[in-house]
Amino acid sequence: MQTADLSYTPRIARATAPLYGKVAKVVPEIEWPVHAPYVEAINRLKREKGAVILAHNYMTPEIYHCVADFVGDSLALAREAAKTDARVIVQAGVHFMAETSKILSPHKTVLIPDPQAGCSLAASITAGDVRRLKAEHPGLPVVTYVNTSAAVKAESDVCCTSSNAKAVVEDIAREWRVDSVIMIPDEYLAQNVARQTAVKIVTWKGHCEVHERFGAADIRAYRDANPGVVVLAHPECPPAVIDEADFAGSTAAMISYVGDKRPKKVVMVTECSMSDNVAADYPDVEFVRPCNLCPHMKRITLPKILKSLQTMTVEVNVDPEIAAQAKAAVERMLTVGKPAKAAA
Ligand code: 13P
Ligand code: SF4
Repeated sequence: MQTADLSYTPRIARATAPLYGKVAKVVPEIEWPVHAPYVEAINRLKREKGAVILAHNYMTPEIYHCVADFVGDSLALAREAAKTDARVIVQAGVHFMAETSKILSPHKTVLIPDPQAGCSLAASITAGDVRRLKAEHPGLPVVTYVNTSAAVKAESDVCCTSSNAKAVVEDIAREWRVDSVIMIPDEYLAQNVARQTAVKIVTWKGHCEVHERFGAADIRAYRDANPGVVVLAHPECPPAVIDEADFAGSTAAMISYVGDKRPKKVVMVTECSMSDNVAADYPDVEFVRPCNLCPHMKRITLPKILKSLQTMTVEVNVDPEIAAQAKAAVERMLTVGKPAKAAA
């Protein structure tokens, strides 16, 4: 294993100063000497190894702003994994995201810095559960949130993310000529989508352990304490929370809302690192930060990313048969909302 000198030298301070400039608003100066040697070593090593770092919007600011090559929501990360030229993908996110990258790019090496980075939604359902649901509801297509294992995706007809769930549900119901679909595993996402469409939805009792902790009373308390605050909420929150919000959307949609509308004061009802990441980009916007951390996302750290590149571990592999079936469901999702190609 290559070792790196991780001391904070004047050379490292100079080399990383522009990167510190990007996060100075949210990373205290006293912390930078701890992060900077890792940032410098990771950025050097990923070039040497032909690696690309795909980071979810919930990564901490020193990952999101200083070592990631591409940041985004689950849908954007999947699209990027499908098209990147890099030989190696380091997934700065949770395990299902790395599996999705491997499914879409089977010939690339996909690494996850901590294989224990799971997800309460992915843990809530197995492939056997999906087979039982299909037997209970014959003839209904299965729409599966990407926050699931490859084996669950393989039992599904199409995947979705929070940014395309309504479009995917309506698209597959139209194609199958049915008025109902099975949508797994996030009960709240399914209930939130059901309120926007005529398609009936059979749900599963999975929840995101970060978003289920928010309640309508929390939103009212943010408004009472911060008159005029704009409330943005993720659709993994219970419907009562969405009712109290000004806008609901995926992590990327919330970021776009702030970029486009520049509210004076905003609260993002989601995982708390995201507010730091967006606050670093929009110093004119004041962020109220409710702090619900995702314990799985927070397993990904700079030291683990560096070790991952040094040792080329932990490699994520998916059984080829399962991967082929899961790929069909993921690729089907990637075509939804894309204009059909004109005939030659
Ligand atoms: P999106 O980034 O797709 O909105 O998903 C949020 C999430 O919880 C991912 O784990
Ligand atoms: Fe899963 Fe929720 Fe964490 Fe996202 S935030 S990885 S949905 S537990």
